[in-house]
Amino acid sequence: MSTAESLDYPLKRAPLVPPRPPVAPDDMTPVQRMKAIRKNAITSWGERAYREDVIAGNFLGRKSYILNKPDAIRYVLVENYENYFRTPAGLRVLRPMLGDGLLIARGKSWKHQRRTLAPAFTPRAVTTLVPHMLSATDEAIDELKRKTDQPLDLREAMQRMTLEIAGRTMFSLEMGRDGAALRNFVIEYSERYASPRMLDLLLPLSIPSPADIGRAFFRRRWTRFVGKLVRERRSMAAQLSGQQGAPRDLFDLMVTARDPETGEAFSDELLGDEVATMILAGHETTATALFWSLYLLSLDQGAQQELADSVASIEIDASTDIAKLAFTRAVVDEAMRLYPPAFLVARAATGPDTVAGLPVAEKDVILISPWLLHRHETLWSDPHAFIPQRFMPGSPQPDRFAYMPFGAGPRICIGAHFALVEATLALAKIIQTFKVEITSSRPVMPVGIVTTQPDHSPTFRITRR
Ligand code: HEM
Repeated sequence: MSTAESLDYPLKRAPLVPPRPPVAPDDMTPVQRMKAIRKNAITSWGERAYREDVIAGNFLGRKSYILNKPDAIRYVLVENYENYFRTPAGLRVLRPMLGDGLLIARGKSWKHQRRTLAPAFTPRAVTTLVPHMLSATDEAIDELKRKTDQPLDLREAMQRMTLEIAGRTMFSLEMGRDGAALRNFVIEYSERYASPRMLDLLLPLSIPSPADIGRAFFRRRWTRFVGKLVRERRSMAAQLSGQQGAPRDLFDLMVTARDPETGEAFSDELLGDEVATMILAGHETTATALFWSLYLLSLDQGAQQELADSVASIEIDASTDIAKLAFTRAVVDEAMRLYPPAFLVARAATGPDTVAGLPVAEKDVILISPWLLHRHETLWSDPHAFIPQRFMPGSPQPDRFAYMPFGAGPRICIGAHFALVEATLALAKIIQTFKVEITSSRPVMPVGIVTTQPDHSPTFRITRR
């Protein structure tokens, strides 16, 4: 469905249109827009951004372009991707947590890391991780069974579950006490350092901003913590050294990974950064996808029943063919269309270029927003409605560069398949076990800061099916 054609899949009822966040006036001044972006990028965009192909603007003296045109997006993310890199503000904010890991590496170092890590994320490798995903999901469900018929914060429950999945798939270890400490690090970082301050945006990367000082202290504590996890896992491996065999987890896959071109392994330091990157890039995003899926299903009880019926007779275990969970997967896909966990892919040009016929100078900023693209009037019919049927097998496929919750091109999310398997299995199991209802009446609005978070945690009620 690459253009806004009429819907051509049968709908049994009028689709749900979840409450839409306010749209900014199109004529905001640059200062007003700057303030609005810092508060919530999603509500800083005006109606034009949902209608037009390219929105040109200014960002701190540099030109910025929001691209909503699939061809132009393909050009930036695929054809000439080497001319575009993460923005200085993005690097400033991410580096203290992710070090030199894959997400913010560049050039030769990125190519080495991507080649070396790719085999750990193939569908076959992910299959070996499914038992860890399922054990953590089952425990989360057992925990939820103790909380039926009482007000429940499902957002927090999803965050705990995906963190546990990240820990177990990485280390084969239950996260226990480390899980709480890890969570505290993530909360501290996202509350205090993850959102760029004005000086973070204004100063060149070579000059530390005041917030960078706090970030540097944070990095020292964080790398010590991740180093401890890596040492513990290594000593566990030493104890089990008599039982060499198939890789147990992502850590095994990463320790034994070799660059297919140079034969090089990861240094201990880089291994720590990759561990941090995978845990952080993976768990909050997947929790967010699950939260919005459950939120939408609680507003649309018809779709929830359809999902429950579709999984009622399926025994979900490590041998389940994920293709059998087609409707569950379609709900996850549609939830990530309406609420893409990564709402913005930002790039700064490293050299001059021409994009969509417009001149781009070095340091100009290109913004590709899955939030806008996924709700764009010319790319989707009924763009704000929740219609999982769009993603059922046999429905017309969206344009590759109109639907991109995981980005696109060489820097596409390495964990996309991992995340989709995790989210599909978890959602199927949750809805197989519980009926989920939302009990608070206040509309839930998305806030785009690092990921697309709800503006408050609504309360839910779950009952056993
Ligand atoms: C629903 C869950 C997820 C979403 C929506 C998501 C989204 C994204 C997006 C949009 C990008 C591209 C960013 C850009 O081009 O600027 C990305 C990159 C990345 N993601 Fe994910 N992600 C998810 C889950 C995961 C998981 C589970 C892992 C690891 C276990 C992971 C690891 C990464 C890494 C390492 C990169 C950087 C890849 C590179 O630059 O080569 N993500 N993700």
